[in-house]
Amino acid sequence: GAPIQLDVSELEPGEQITAEWRGQPIWVLKRDDEMLRTLASENLLDRLRDPDSEVRTQQPGYAKNEMRSLKPEYFICIAICTHLGCVPVYRPERGAPDIDKDWQGGYFCPCHKSKFDLAGRVFKGVPAPVNLVIPPHSYVDEETLVIG
Ligand code: FES
Repeated sequence: GAPIQLDVSELEPGEQITAEWRGQPIWVLKRDDEMLRTLASENLLDRLRDPDSEVRTQQPGYAKNEMRSLKPEYFICIAICTHLGCVPVYRPERGAPDIDKDWQGGYFCPCHKSKFDLAGRVFKGVPAPVNLVIPPHSYVDEETLVIG
């Protein structure tokens, strides 16, 4: 499939849109400052299976960083659970007793209860084995994103 181009200038902090690339749903989330702080907190990192994105198949080299993206505020991810392929749900709120008593915002897969943070990193103790996949992406200018 051909690369797709998206204008992300209208996204509000905390807002997520879904696009399609190669027949797959892709999320583009504009993370706010609080989300970025949470993603860097020790307390969260301790609960993740692969906090440093060591599994190479799950992201391009330039997204093997703390926020798993080229620009910290924009998170681009293939919206397919790495367990058996369901589409997880965006649950950005802090505190979600139906998911986890310590929930700090992330993605929840309703099929078998896998949990991911807002960088698509999988929590320990859930069925999904690895982090969500980050597709190849780049920017042609400040706010025009290319996926593919
Ligand atoms: Fe997501 Fe099984 S497909 S937890």
